[in-house]
Parts: sequence; C-alpha cells; structure tokens
Amino acid sequence: MNLLLILILILLLPASYANLGTFEDVRDPSVFQRVVVFNRTREVFASARNALYHLSPDLRLLGKVSTGPFMDNATCLHPPYPCGGRRAPRPQDNRVLEIFHHPESPLLLSCGTLYQGVCTLRTLSDVSEGRKSWSVGPLNGSEAFVGGAGSSVAFFGPGFGGQTTLWSAVSHDERPDEFLPPAVSSRILVQRGGQFFFEYAQDSEGQYTGVRFDARYRRLYKMAPDKKK
Ligand SMILES: *[C@@H]1O[C@H](CO)[C@@H](O)[C@H](O)[C@H]1NC(C)=O
Ligand SMILES: *[C@@H]1O[C@H](CO)[C@@H](O)[C@H](O)[C@H]1NC(C)=O
Ligand SMILES: *[C@@H]1O[C@H](CO)[C@@H](O)[C@H](O)[C@H]1NC(C)=O
Repeated sequence: MNLLLILILILLLPASYANLGTFEDVRDPSVFQRVVVFNRTREVFASARNALYHLSPDLRLLGKVSTGPFMDNATCLHPPYPCGGRRAPRPQDNRVLEIFHHPESPLLLSCGTLYQGVCTLRTLSDVSEGRKSWSVGPLNGSEAFVGGAGSSVAFFGPGFGGQTTLWSAVSHDERPDEFLPPAVSSRILVQRGGQFFFEYAQDSEGQYTGVRFDARYRRLYKMAPDKKK
C-alpha cells in the first residue's frame, strides 16, 4: 500500500520551528500529490488523489473539492467527445497544481491523470464549492494535454518576451499516438469567448515549442520514477 493519508508540514516562518503545522484528512485519506501557497494571502492549496484542498495559512480546512473518480478510458477524449470503448470509473491523481496570477482574479490550475491530462481552472475562493471551474481546451488537441497516466510536472514561469508560460514535462504512457503530448513543452494560457485554452508558446509553420522523442526511444524517457498504484 502507498501513503494513505494527507499530511502536510508547512514551515510558515523558516526561522521558527514553533510554527510547524499539520493537516490530516482523517475521514477520507488519499495519496498526497502537490502543495502550493498563494503568495498574497499565504492560503495553502494541496492536491491528492481525487481531491483538492483549500487551507488557511495555519492549515485549517477551508474547502475541499472532489476531482474523481470519473468515467474515463485512456483511449478516449474528454466528454462530450464520443468514446469507441467503454468508460469506467478511474481515479484522478492531481500531479500538477499551480496558481495562475490572472490579472482580474487568481486561478488554481490542476492537471491530473484523466481525460488525456486536460487541466482544470478554478477561482481560489470557489475551490470548495466547485461552482466556477473551466476545463482548459482544446479538449481534442495534445497542446492541452499536460498530465497523463505516467509522471508529469508543470509550473508557470517567465517565457519568451516575458509572458507567463507553463513549462511542462510528461513521461511516456500507453495512450494512442495521436493523443501523446510532447515530452517537454512550453505553453501559454489564452482566453477566448469566456473559455480558456492552451497554445504552444510559439507555433508557426509546423514548428512549435515542444520536444517529442522518436517513437523508438519514447518508452525509455522517464522524468521521475512512476508511482506504484
Ligand atoms: C505573487 O506572485 C506573482 C507571480 O510571481 C507576482 O506577480 C505578484 O507580485 C506576487 N504578489 C505578492 C504579494 O508577492
Ligand atoms: C477503452 O476503449 C477501448 C476502445 O477504444 C476498448 O478496447 C477498451 O476495452 C476500453 N477499456 C475499458 C476499461 O473498457
Ligand atoms: C478539434 O476540434 C476542432 C473543433 O471541432 C477542430 O477544428 C480541430 O481540427 C480538432 N482538432 C483535432 C486535433 O482533431
């Protein structure tokens, strides 16, 4: 068995060990994935298998949202795209968790193992209610596929021309070739008609900011040891 509880230790002030806090989801333990701190308020967001948590700076639970299990099939796209096979309930490991400093309202980005690793954005205050969430499209294009069944990592940082860029890497998994995202890529988040989309940071004349390994060697590419289920 793997780690069965969420345990976060946050050193609020590096100089003072008295400020070490803990949070444990006793009722519904699951595998811990990632943690981010919102710099303006020091509120803490944590991701786990099938859940996101919103915590105060002293780690009191402010909200929790369920992110799985959902009906999915590794050979299919996000609904409403049809699926040739059967979709079955599958758990979601939210291995990517980042805050996007949107000029109007900061947003929490999470990307998991379901639906080809498509990401979801939520307003920080609504993490508990899950009222406002957007899937980052295009739901049928690998430029939006950040996560996956293997290991994945992604973070926002400065990119070309100073624009906020998502730098990401994903290890090879068994999905169909046409759904396979580049092993390493940089993308930007754009908003069109009230929807969010990922685009490659640069994309013109068949050249884009992504690196794909030759199909013969793809399998050998590992970013980190994949976790055992
Ligand atoms: C928080 O981080 C963002 C992105 O790095 C930065 O633009 C912003 O100024 C920071 N805010 C504070 C209060 O530190
Ligand atoms: C997923 O769909 C494929 C066909 O696209 C099918 O062969 C496979 O059995 C399905 N997987 C499950 C778990 O039903
Ligand atoms: C995704 O869907 C859009 C709109 O239906 C279509 O224009 C586009 O070609 C599709 N992309 C892929 C990669 O299939």
